[in-house]
Amino acid sequence: MTSISSSWAILIIVLAIIANGVVAAYTWPDAQIDQLESILYQHSGYRQYGLAFGVSPCNNMANALETGRDDSAEWFRTAYHDMATADVLAGIGGIDASIGFETDRPENKGKAFNESVSFFTAFQSARSSMADVIALGALFSVGSCSNGEVIIPFRGGRRDALGSGPTGVPQPEEDLDTHTAAFARQGFNVTEMIGLVACGHTIGGVHGENFPEIVPVVNDMNNQASRQDFDGSFDNFDNSVAKQFVANTTQNPLAFGHNETTRSDFRIFNADGGNLIRRMAESQQFFWDTCTTLLERMLNTVPKDVQLTDVIQPIQIKPNNLFITVNSNGTETVSGEVRIIEDGTTFSNREVLIHLKSRTGEAVPSSPILARTQDGMQVYAFYNNMPNFTFYSFTTTVPTGIGVSSFDVQIKDGDTDTTSTNGGQGFPIQDVLIVQQASTCTRLEFPSTKSNNTLEITVAVRDDMEFDSVRLVVPKPVNMIGTLSLRFEPTAVDLGKVQTLDGTGYSLYKGSFSFLVDAVGPMKTFDLVASGPKGVVQNNFTRWAEFNFC
Ligand code: HEM
Ligand SMILES: *[C@@H]1O[C@H](CO)[C@@H](O)[C@H](O)[C@H]1NC(C)=O
Ligand SMILES: *[C@@H]1O[C@H](CO)[C@@H](O)[C@H](O)[C@H]1NC(C)=O
Ligand SMILES: *[C@@H]1O[C@H](CO)[C@@H](O)[C@H](O)[C@H]1NC(C)=O
Ligand SMILES: *[C@@H]1O[C@H](CO)[C@@H](O)[C@H](O)[C@H]1NC(C)=O
Ligand SMILES: *[C@@H]1O[C@H](CO)[C@@H](O)[C@H](O)[C@H]1NC(C)=O
Ligand SMILES: *[C@@H]1O[C@H](CO)[C@@H](O)[C@H](O)[C@H]1NC(C)=O
Ligand SMILES: *[C@@H]1O[C@H](CO)[C@@H](O)[C@H](O)[C@H]1NC(C)=O
Ligand SMILES: *[C@@H]1O[C@H](CO)[C@@H](O)[C@H](O)[C@H]1NC(C)=O
Repeated sequence: MTSISSSWAILIIVLAIIANGVVAAYTWPDAQIDQLESILYQHSGYRQYGLAFGVSPCNNMANALETGRDDSAEWFRTAYHDMATADVLAGIGGIDASIGFETDRPENKGKAFNESVSFFTAFQSARSSMADVIALGALFSVGSCSNGEVIIPFRGGRRDALGSGPTGVPQPEEDLDTHTAAFARQGFNVTEMIGLVACGHTIGGVHGENFPEIVPVVNDMNNQASRQDFDGSFDNFDNSVAKQFVANTTQNPLAFGHNETTRSDFRIFNADGGNLIRRMAESQQFFWDTCTTLLERMLNTVPKDVQLTDVIQPIQIKPNNLFITVNSNGTETVSGEVRIIEDGTTFSNREVLIHLKSRTGEAVPSSPILARTQDGMQVYAFYNNMPNFTFYSFTTTVPTGIGVSSFDVQIKDGDTDTTSTNGGQGFPIQDVLIVQQASTCTRLEFPSTKSNNTLEITVAVRDDMEFDSVRLVVPKPVNMIGTLSLRFEPTAVDLGKVQTLDGTGYSLYKGSFSFLVDAVGPMKTFDLVASGPKGVVQNNFTRWAEFNFC
C-alpha cells in the first residue's frame, strides 16, 4: 500500500543531515516544539502567525512614526545586544530577554530595543518565551534580508530572565583589546569576532539620532532618524559591507567615519591583517556560510541551566484546531484540520482521508472521513528555502457511546498512497475533557490603561471518569517592572458542574477567568486538568483566539 512520498523522502534526508543518530523521531503533540514550529513556519496566509511580517520585506518598519529605521536591523541588533553580555565560561547570560530590563544603559542607545520587545510581546505565550521570540526575530531578519540564503537552524527552549544581567555590550569607542576580550567572554575568538561583526553590519546603519558623535543629524523627511547605512545595500544581507571595506569605500561610519575613535569596524576587520574580511568580500557564498554558522552559535548562547530542543524541522503532517462538541441527541461532532507540507509535487486530485478510531481503537462508523481544502487554506513562507503548507479540514459525527481516541491520515497523491500513523500510535484526540467551542467566548475591555481579558468557558466532561475536580489553568500574563516583556503565572480556577446531558454520558462544567494586563498583551491560552480516582487528564494549550467574542 505504501510507497514513500517525496516529502517523507525529504524529511528523511533532512533528519540524516542534522546530526548522527541524536534525532529522535517527532511524534505529535510535543509541548516544547509545536507552538514554536507554527511561529517559525506559518508565515503568511491561513493560520498565519505573523511574526515574520515585521521584517518582510527586509526594509519593513511596522512603526511608521519615523523614517530611516527598519525592523529587520533593529530585531537583529536586539538579539546581539541580548547575547553580548554573556559570560560563556561562567554559564551566565546569552539570549534570555534580559535586554528588556537594560534599555536605559548607555551601551543600549536608541528606541530599537523597547520597540522590538513591545512588538514581540504579541508572540509570547506559555510555550514561546520572549527569549525564543527574540531569537526568532533575528532568524527572520536574516532569512528575509537574504531571501532564504541564510537559514539558521532553530532550537527552542530559551528561558526569560526576571531581571537585568551584567553590562558588557561592546561600544564603538572601545579599543581592540577590549573588544577582543568582550567577544572571548561571549565565546568567539578573533576570527569569529571579525565574522560576527561583518555579519551584523550588513543591514541597517548608524543613526545620528543615537550617535551624533559618529554620524551627523540630518534634516530629511525620508531619514528622520539620520541613518548612515553600513553599506550600499542596507536592506540586503549580502557581502557588500566586506567588499566595500576591502575596496576602501568610505560609507561604513564604523570603519571610515570622521571620528577615528569610533572606527571599531576598521580595527576589528583588520585584527587578523584583513584576511577574513577579504575572503568574505571575495565570495558571497563564503560570507553567507560564515554568517549562518556564527549566527546559529550567537542565538544558541544561553545560560548553562537552559537545555535547548533539537533543531525544529517543519512537521510533515500536523493536526490543528481539534474540537469536539457533545450534542443533545447522543452524538459528538468531531472537527479539525490537518496541515500538510508542500514540496511542489502535489497533484490537483490529492485526496486526504482521516481514519478516525473509537475509544476502543476500532474504526468509527463514518470513517474514513474525507478532509477538504479550498482556496485560502494555504500558508506561504515569505522567503526561499522555507516550506509552504496546505490545510485540510474535516468534520464528522460519532455516537458518544463509541467516542474517539486517535486518527491516522491517508494521503493519495498521484501514484503515491501513504498513511501516517504518528509513529504507530495515531494522532491522539481525547473526548474525556473537551472545551465546547460554541458555548465558550472571550471578552476584551479597556477599563483603564490596562486591558481586561475574560474567558467564559464551558467544558464537557465524561461522566464515567468520575472526576472530583475539573480545573481551568490560565498562564496569566503579568507585567514586570523595568521591561515591556511579560511573564506567565499559572492560575487555576475550579469549574463547577452545571448540567448533566442526559443520554450522552457527559456533563457540562462552566467557569470564567479575568485578568488585567498592560496593552493587549501576549497570546493567551488555557489548560484543562481533571482528576479523580481513575487518574488525571489534561487538555493543554488551547488558544483563546479560537473562540468568538462574548
Ligand atoms: C564591537 C562590536 C560592535 C560594535 C561596537 C557595534 C556598534 C554598533 C553601533 C554604534 C551601531 C549603530 C546603532 C544605531 O545607531 O542605531 C550598530 C548597529 C548595528 N549593529 Fe552593531 N556593533 C557591534 C557588533 C555587532 C554584532 C556582532 C551584530 C550582530 C551580529 C551587530 C548588529 C548590528 C545591526 C544589525 C545594526 C543596525 C541597527 C539599525 O540599523 O537599526 N553589531 N552597531
Ligand atoms: C577561531 O576558531 C576557529 C574555529 O572555530 C578557527 O578556525 C580559527 O583559526 C580560530 N581563530 C583564532 C584567531 O584562534
Ligand atoms: C568621537 O567619539 C568620542 C567617543 O564617543 C567622543 O568622545 C568624541 O567627542 C568624538 N569626537 C568628535 C569630533 O565628535
Ligand atoms: C585601501 O587602503 C589601504 C591602506 O591605505 C591600501 O593598502 C589598499 O591597497 C587600499 N585598497 C584598495 C582596493 O584601494
Ligand atoms: C445529532 O445532532 C447533530 C448536531 O445537531 C447532527 O449533526 C446530527 O446529524 C444528529 N444526529 C442524529 C443521528 O440525529
Ligand atoms: C511556496 O509558495 C510560493 C508562493 O506561491 C512559491 O513561490 C514557492 O516556490 C513555494 N515553495 C515551495 C517549497 O513549494
Ligand atoms: C473584568 O471583566 C470581568 C468580566 O466582564 C469583570 O467581572 C471584572 O470586574 C472586570 N475587571 C475590571 C478591573 O474591570
Ligand atoms: C523601555 O521600557 C521600560 C519599561 O516600560 C522602561 O522602564 C524603560 O525606561 C524604557 N526604555 C527606553 C529607552 O525608553
Ligand atoms: C498541562 O497543564 C497543566 C496545568 O497548567 C500542567 O500542570 C501540566 O504540566 C501540563 N502538561 C503538559 C504535558 O504540558
